[in-house]
Amino acid sequence: MKKIITYGTFDMLHYGHINLLQRARALGDYLIVALSTDEFNSVEKDKVTYFSYEKRKKLLEAIRYVDLVIPEQSWDQKIQDIKEFRIDTFVIGDDWKGKFDFLKEYCEVVYLERTPEISTTKIKRDLRI
Ligand code: CTP
Repeated sequence: MKKIITYGTFDMLHYGHINLLQRARALGDYLIVALSTDEFNSVEKDKVTYFSYEKRKKLLEAIRYVDLVIPEQSWDQKIQDIKEFRIDTFVIGDDWKGKFDFLKEYCEVVYLERTPEISTTKIKRDLRI
């Protein structure tokens, strides 16, 4: 079984996220999403989410492409996750291109093209929230 992992905040789940998850899952048989916790978002990413971790987790778990959601609590957990879950492929959008090449020592690393013209930031801006 080929196992894939991806990381992110996935706030106000939108079709750019779904496109990413669909393509990530299609690279293998089992997709794990490491979902940024509220604390990690606020302390490390300077992000305040609209939906709490538990709500974002529930939304992701309802998506057919997602097999398991685990918490992302630090930048440094990736190597441990890859080993613990016997990950074959690390996937992330190409806004991170090159940033995770150091993981190639542990698994395949794939950067997927972002879906243009949609982001949580844009939705918030357009709705002025
Ligand atoms: N993503 C994507 N296409 C988009 C938006 C996001 O492929 N249009 C991908 C990102 O590259 C990442 C994952 O979805 O791999 C989660 O991204 P996240 O940062 O949570 O979503 P954004 O909408 O980019 O959020 P923000 O505007 O807060 O940065």
